[in-house]
Amino acid sequence: MDNNSPIGIFDSGVGGLTVLKEIFRVLPNEATIYLGDTARVPYGIRSPDTVTRYSFENTEFLVKKSIKLLVIACNTASSISLEAIKNHFSIPVIGVIEPGAKAALGSTKTNRIGIIGTEGTIKSNSYINSINAIRNKGTVAVKIKDHGTKYLDRYFKIEADGMVIFTKACPLFVSLAEEGWTTNDVARLTVKHYLSGLKKENIDTLVLGCTHYPLLKESIAEVMGDDVSLIDSATETVKEIKKMLSVLKLESKSDKIQRQFYVTDSPERFLLIGERFLGQKIEHIEKIAVGI
Ligand code: DGL
Repeated sequence: MDNNSPIGIFDSGVGGLTVLKEIFRVLPNEATIYLGDTARVPYGIRSPDTVTRYSFENTEFLVKKSIKLLVIACNTASSISLEAIKNHFSIPVIGVIEPGAKAALGSTKTNRIGIIGTEGTIKSNSYINSINAIRNKGTVAVKIKDHGTKYLDRYFKIEADGMVIFTKACPLFVSLAEEGWTTNDVARLTVKHYLSGLKKENIDTLVLGCTHYPLLKESIAEVMGDDVSLIDSATETVKEIKKMLSVLKLESKSDKIQRQFYVTDSPERFLLIGERFLGQKIEHIEKIAVGI
């Protein structure tokens, strides 16, 4: 492992490409290895034990490729397994929750923030904990109120020391993103159904707390309107990556870089969405198995 070793990135599928695209833009001289665990997507509906096992297996695969830094470009895996991975592996690790929480705090003027994510991310309260930690309010008592009875309408209101946070799981957004259905009628209607509750709560900031969701940004922005800033943790995460590479003096010294892609199922499907989203050809892609 040296300066010219690649950065390893994993997600359950295409979602982490939102972070990869930002790495390409900000750190064009860095080699990357992206792993999309497309055989086991979605992670958001699985138990914490399963998500942690998948995350360990993905990390082991990337560590064997001599990566110099790991980016967990999945909110669910970051929410549930970041600490365990940091404790177990000796490479530097960056998740997407803290950068997203910082960006939300930097954006809100009214202290009314919405957070959408997978069921796993929302249940973990990772964003609330991170927001409290950043505000130095580590152990504030939070008051949680459940709104709505029907599954689609259900969201939570959390009050924590002057901050009002609304959280909502939007599981179907992941399938829409994986399908490439991001702006069609089905996408727009689904977004409207999921977000109508949060829309009424006068939030000024909405965290897209799942790396798949920025793929639906256009439809989400249309429903939430111009007064709500959408936070996509990719930008902040890549700032953290840049900072960490500089602190550790691990910046690439080469301009002959390789961008490799691995998936655990159907490279064709991944290519279709991936190339469209990244706006460039994916040259090296291979189907592999992890955890065997
Ligand atoms: N992209 C992922 C996230 O950020 C996970 C989607 C899923 O696998 O459910 O949470």
